[in-house]
Amino acid sequence: MIHCICNNINTAKVDLATSNGACCAADVLKSCNMKFNCGQCRISIDNRVAELRLTKFNLEAAE
Ligand code: FES
Repeated sequence: MIHCICNNINTAKVDLATSNGACCAADVLKSCNMKFNCGQCRISIDNRVAELRLTKFNLEAAE
């Protein structure tokens, strides 16, 4: 899935940035050496990052 049309950032790129420490959409774009253009992707990327971080948190809590 493409999250950011302006910068061609897909789910794999969001996931990689998150695994490298990105906490929000701004971090993801920075990790990709990109900047917001229209900003329409912010909520979609933030939601994906939150989902991944919550999954990681739950997995760590279950250990
Ligand atoms: S869709 Fe991401 S900046 Fe436009």
